[in-house]
Amino acid sequence: MEKYILLACFIQLIVICHGSKEYRLRQPCVFDSSRKPLCWCSGDGYTDCSGQGLNYIPVLPKTTTRLKLRNNHLEILNVETLKNISNNQLTYLDVSKNRIKKIDSDFIGVFKRLQTLDLNVNPLTNEELKTSMKNISTSLQKLFISGLTLSHFDDDLLKPLNGSKITVLGLSNNSFHDFNGGHIFNYLKHLTTLYLSYNHINNFNASRSYSLKQLSLSRNDLTEVPPFCSTAGALFPNLEQLYIDQNCISVLNMNNLNCLDNLILLNISETRIETLGSNTFNKLKRLSALSAHYMESFNYIEPFAFNSSSLEKINIRDNNLQFKVPKMDISLVFSGCPNLKILDISNNFLGNLRNAEWGLLFSKISKLTYVDISRGYLLYLPNAIPNVLHNLKELRVSDNGIDFVPPGYFNTLHNITDIYLNSNKLTTLNHTQLPTTKLHHLNLAYNPFVCDCNILWLINYLKLHKRIVSYYPSHYICADTKLRLEDLNIEKRSCLIGEQTSTIIKCSCFSVMLILVIISGVYRNRWRLRYFMYILNYKRRKYINGNMKSSNFSHDVYISCSEPDFNFVYSNIVEKLEENNVNVYISERDAVGGSLKITSTLENMDGSRFVMLCLSNSYVQDHWCEYETYMAMERSIYEGHDVLIVVLLEDISSVNMNKTIHKLVKNNDFILWDTNEDASHLSLRRLVRLIGDENTTIRSPST
Ligand SMILES: *[C@@H]1O[C@H](CO)[C@@H](O)[C@H](O)[C@H]1NC(C)=O
Ligand SMILES: *[C@@H]1O[C@H](CO)[C@@H](O)[C@H](O)[C@H]1NC(C)=O
Ligand SMILES: *[C@@H]1O[C@H](CO)[C@@H](O)[C@H](O)[C@H]1NC(C)=O
Ligand SMILES: *[C@@H]1O[C@H](CO)[C@@H](O)[C@H](O)[C@H]1NC(C)=O
Ligand SMILES: *[C@@H]1O[C@H](CO)[C@@H](O)[C@H](O)[C@H]1NC(C)=O
Ligand SMILES: *[C@@H]1O[C@H](CO)[C@@H](O)[C@H](O)[C@H]1NC(C)=O
Ligand SMILES: *[C@@H]1O[C@H](CO)[C@@H](O)[C@H](O)[C@H]1NC(C)=O
Ligand SMILES: *[C@@H]1O[C@H](CO)[C@@H](O)[C@H](O)[C@H]1NC(C)=O
Ligand SMILES: *[C@@H]1O[C@H](CO)[C@@H](O)[C@H](O)[C@H]1NC(C)=O
Repeated sequence: MEKYILLACFIQLIVICHGSKEYRLRQPCVFDSSRKPLCWCSGDGYTDCSGQGLNYIPVLPKTTTRLKLRNNHLEILNVETLKNISNNQLTYLDVSKNRIKKIDSDFIGVFKRLQTLDLNVNPLTNEELKTSMKNISTSLQKLFISGLTLSHFDDDLLKPLNGSKITVLGLSNNSFHDFNGGHIFNYLKHLTTLYLSYNHINNFNASRSYSLKQLSLSRNDLTEVPPFCSTAGALFPNLEQLYIDQNCISVLNMNNLNCLDNLILLNISETRIETLGSNTFNKLKRLSALSAHYMESFNYIEPFAFNSSSLEKINIRDNNLQFKVPKMDISLVFSGCPNLKILDISNNFLGNLRNAEWGLLFSKISKLTYVDISRGYLLYLPNAIPNVLHNLKELRVSDNGIDFVPPGYFNTLHNITDIYLNSNKLTTLNHTQLPTTKLHHLNLAYNPFVCDCNILWLINYLKLHKRIVSYYPSHYICADTKLRLEDLNIEKRSCLIGEQTSTIIKCSCFSVMLILVIISGVYRNRWRLRYFMYILNYKRRKYINGNMKSSNFSHDVYISCSEPDFNFVYSNIVEKLEENNVNVYISERDAVGGSLKITSTLENMDGSRFVMLCLSNSYVQDHWCEYETYMAMERSIYEGHDVLIVVLLEDISSVNMNKTIHKLVKNNDFILWDTNEDASHLSLRRLVRLIGDENTTIRSPST
């Protein structure tokens, strides 16, 4: 416990030290009369007096070389206001968002080393600017004069900058309609970056520049692509980035662009372009990034539209494009750009694509490292992603209807580091459904997690990887209880118990099955078992009774016959024997109702001197008779003398001839009960003699 407290203190100490270091970097260095801090200084000459409502320049530290006075109430900059600035070596001055109407040329002229001047958003007019520019530092590199509501642009403004080293010029957020830059690049021979966004320009005219690399004409009123190409060649042969987004351009006239051999990035987003034809970007040799998102009228991409070996990045998101077979040739739409690495087609209709079509789509651009198919109405994760995009590093599939991540989905994506699956329909995830590689970002927020024992792995994973999991824990919530996964109290033990119970259930099921099997086995072999029991019993009885005495016999003969034969046996044998004073037991007649059949059978068989088996086909098929046969045979074996009398009522057919019956009849030691009157009479006499003899020899002494 103490160790943890110590550790916590240590960490806090580090945080404090770190914080104070930051604090030391920027500390208040200029105060007003009431000791309220006005400016913050960082050791390297940077003084920041932004947002203090200042209408004067306060006394600044001598070391100040870069001064920021943004968002104050300065109105006029002249020699007077300079008094508190002791150091003329300023290289950076930001007086944007003030109320400056006038800047004297003496003021500007003082800063001979000024490199960056930011005059954005001040009520300065063209004329005022012109005068102040006249005395500006020749070392100026960056000039920002955006947001001045200048209504027209004229070259004269920049004439004073002729021969300057200026590289960046900001002219955005004014109200230019025409841009007449016929001379601008004659003066600004080093200009690389020109911002003209947020104006009303619909006519762009400029002189040739070999230095210009970046031109922004975003958010203007252009109705077509300005003529950057003419018979005289490219206006800006070294232009690398061109922004003509947010204009009213409806036809992308590539003839005005195709000469820009060094163009790397083209932004045509938020224009009214309707189609991109085949080979649109084919002639732009270096074009690598195309931004064409949110084009309201965009409805068709021809096959090979992006045919370009240099294209690496395409963004056509937010276009309501139908990625659907008759509407688009899925297999050819991204043909011809084999070096594409980044593709954003999010917020288009992708939901109709089948797995095979995703395969066709991605097979042409298999080098992708980044794919965004968010908000695409997807209901499943395309197989083509793991099958084709083996270089993938970042996958964004947010805001779809995906409810399942196929196990092993990320197994082939060895380089994946960023996964966005937020706002889908995922209910749970386990280790098979996430990559084993080290992730930098994982976003699973806003999924309707089902919080049962299956979620335990995920909860653990999220806790362990907190730092890379976006929106954790606040937006990882159980769909039903609205509890945060983090706060969930599913006891691991109770889940384990659950497992145990299921094991118990499985075991009991198995036992029940086993018991059933045993019972059915027992049932099938019940006679054998009963017989076995009988044998045990028999030995015991024998032991108790000592030598079996004739006086113990209650009957002379026990007759076993099948039910179908009973009538025949009764009238032909039993009645005849009884007429001859033979004491007969036949269970069909003599069994005492209520007593257990098996017990009475055993008792009476044991209590009879002879056991007569009346064999017939029905006898052989009867299980009860079979049982009686076994018991009789066993008894004859134990008693050592023949107690068995076998009577054959009919010929036993071969199908019924089992081993036992065979044994009983094989020695011809049986009485054949012929239906013939004479023969049956003979048989009866034989029988009576057999039983009667015994009767007299054994029974008589005791009587
Ligand atoms: C110089 O700074 C002081 C306070 O710092 C201020 O009162 C004064 O008006 C400033 N002077 C000028 C000319 O701005
Ligand atoms: C330019 O600025 C310097 C320094 O303030 C000043 O001496 C000079 O008169 C200014 N020149 C013009 C033409 O305003
Ligand atoms: C710009 O300056 C150059 C010399 O640096 C000069 O030859 C040229 O005439 C000037 N242009 C204008 C319009 O003043
Ligand atoms: C243009 O002005 C608007 C409104 O004042 C502001 O929000 C925007 O950031 C400005 N843009 C630029 C490029 O200065
Ligand atoms: C562009 O400006 C030049 C020089 O001012 C002029 O000669 C030319 O006619 C202009 N072109 C257009 C299309 O306005
Ligand atoms: C292209 O323009 C759009 C619309 O103005 C903007 O949102 C986007 O960031 C731009 N893209 C690039 C790469 O500059
Ligand atoms: C794709 O571009 C290449 C190179 O410019 C060209 O040779 C080929 O014909 C184009 N393919 C199609 C189908 O237009
Ligand atoms: C993974 O990235 C590394 C380095 O970026 C690369 O060398 C390797 O080829 C990539 N592996 C796969 C399977 O794309
Ligand atoms: C992981 O999740 C998948 C899909 O829901 C399931 O098929 C699999 O059995 C789970 N594996 C484990 C070990 O829970």
